Amino acid sequence: MRTIAVYPGSFDPPTYGHLDIIERSARVFSRVIVAVARNLRKNEMFTTAERLDMLRKLTKAHANVEVDSFRGLLVEHAREIGAHVVVRGLRAISDFEYEFQMAHMNKKLAAEVDTVFMMTGERYSYISSNIVKEIASFGGKIDDLVPPLVRERVFGKIGRKK
Ligand code: PNS
Repeated sequence: MRTIAVYPGSFDPPTYGHLDIIERSARVFSRVIVAVARNLRKNEMFTTAERLDMLRKLTKAHANVEVDSFRGLLVEHAREIGAHVVVRGLRAISDFEYEFQMAHMNKKLAAEVDTVFMMTGERYSYISSNIVKEIASFGGKIDDLVPPLVRERVFGKIGRKK
């Protein structure tokens, strides 16, 4: 069976944790569509176009991975692209409550769409986009958290050289 999965998120910016989930999903599903949520919050570091550009460059080695963006409800986007699976990464128990609520709400909105959780690899379990931005804003090292391309762009935004 050919299963299309959508991997939604803010990706502001993409981290090694996100890439781990994308790479592993690409081995499980026949097509993975990474979907950047547009205009979710006001204080984003990167525009949607910048996040799309980073994700496309970072995933270009995977023939079955595409990157797009969506506005509005995730399940409506899943329907439009024919995805019956939503992939979400779980880093720790603290993620669970929000993810549980979102998975159930999405199921209520679209019964044909299932959420599949992937445990984020142990070495990435402490990484989040917000932590990356915070560390970078104080001039800290983010080499182990994001790929070089993202690191350059984060420091480019902050106006520091690292
Ligand atoms: O990376 P994030 O910020 O944890 O991703 C959250 C995201 C974008 C997946 C979630 O906020 C979302 O799906 N937003 C779209 C609006 C929507 O469908 N909301 C209802 C979910 S219950």
